[in-house]
Amino acid sequence: MSEALDTSNELSEVLEDLRRHLLWQEEAGGRILQVDARLAAELRAANLRPQALQRAKAAPQQAPAAPSAPPAPVTPPPVAARPLAARPATPAPERLIEAPAQARPAEGSLPGVVEGERPTLDQIRRELGDCRRCKLCDGRKNIVFGSGNPRAELVFVGEGPGETEDLQGVPFVGAAGELLTKMIEAMGYRRDDVYICNVVKCRPPGNRNPEPDEVAACEPFLRAQLRAVQPKAIVALGKFAAQTLLRDSTPITRMRGQWREYEGIKLMPTFHPAYLLRQPAEKKKAWEDLQQVMKFFGKQPGQRG
Ligand code: URA
Repeated sequence: MSEALDTSNELSEVLEDLRRHLLWQEEAGGRILQVDARLAAELRAANLRPQALQRAKAAPQQAPAAPSAPPAPVTPPPVAARPLAARPATPAPERLIEAPAQARPAEGSLPGVVEGERPTLDQIRRELGDCRRCKLCDGRKNIVFGSGNPRAELVFVGEGPGETEDLQGVPFVGAAGELLTKMIEAMGYRRDDVYICNVVKCRPPGNRNPEPDEVAACEPFLRAQLRAVQPKAIVALGKFAAQTLLRDSTPITRMRGQWREYEGIKLMPTFHPAYLLRQPAEKKKAWEDLQQVMKFFGKQPGQRG
């Protein structure tokens, strides 16, 4: 791929981020920026460290139960009040369009999951409960935990639920999901042979990008899901999945198509299907990336099993 094409792809990624951010702001009627400005002012006035302020602000949020019921087969018990170690302060306004890899706090641990042991997906789902760990809980209809084969050899990780996924509680069932299903089938799998999940489990309003605090709150669950499934390979769909899992802020245009390693598991970064719907000419590159994955598994196009 030429440098000029790289630059133009990066530029179109930045513009797309900006477009989605503006759409979201428009949808939120500017409320978010106002809230952030107020928080920044409070921080300055109180001279508090963000986490101390967050703890102070979190107390009243822990009381009421969420209106949305998670769709998973396991009914989670009510979530006990928990320390907000995995929920850092809302970012200051100037950080709103930052890439997630640049400001990520340390990974939190999951109390119901024993460190070093292989958890089950049900345990992780129970631990997630009716999650209120970040502000995405306010607008979601359903938590979108993940779907597919709990012992899959191949896992696809996306960014976060869109509108259809939020309504159904299932990942990748909208337009991008249709394309992903075609990609999976073209690789010789059925959708339920593989496991599919996202970096964030709740829909960002207006399909804006997930923010660093939201990624940080959800990331321990994603990592635990991967520990539960123990796939042989992971396909990271788009920059959020690749950058979050690899803790690498390299643009997806440069990362894609190169095998990487995540906790000893092969990881192939490629384009997100939603991006491919906007830029169909890029499908060829994504298909090349997927063919490398097929080669790793000894698969021929369209061959099952
Ligand atoms: N895009 C994603 O990243 N994930 C979904 O589940 C749907 C669309």
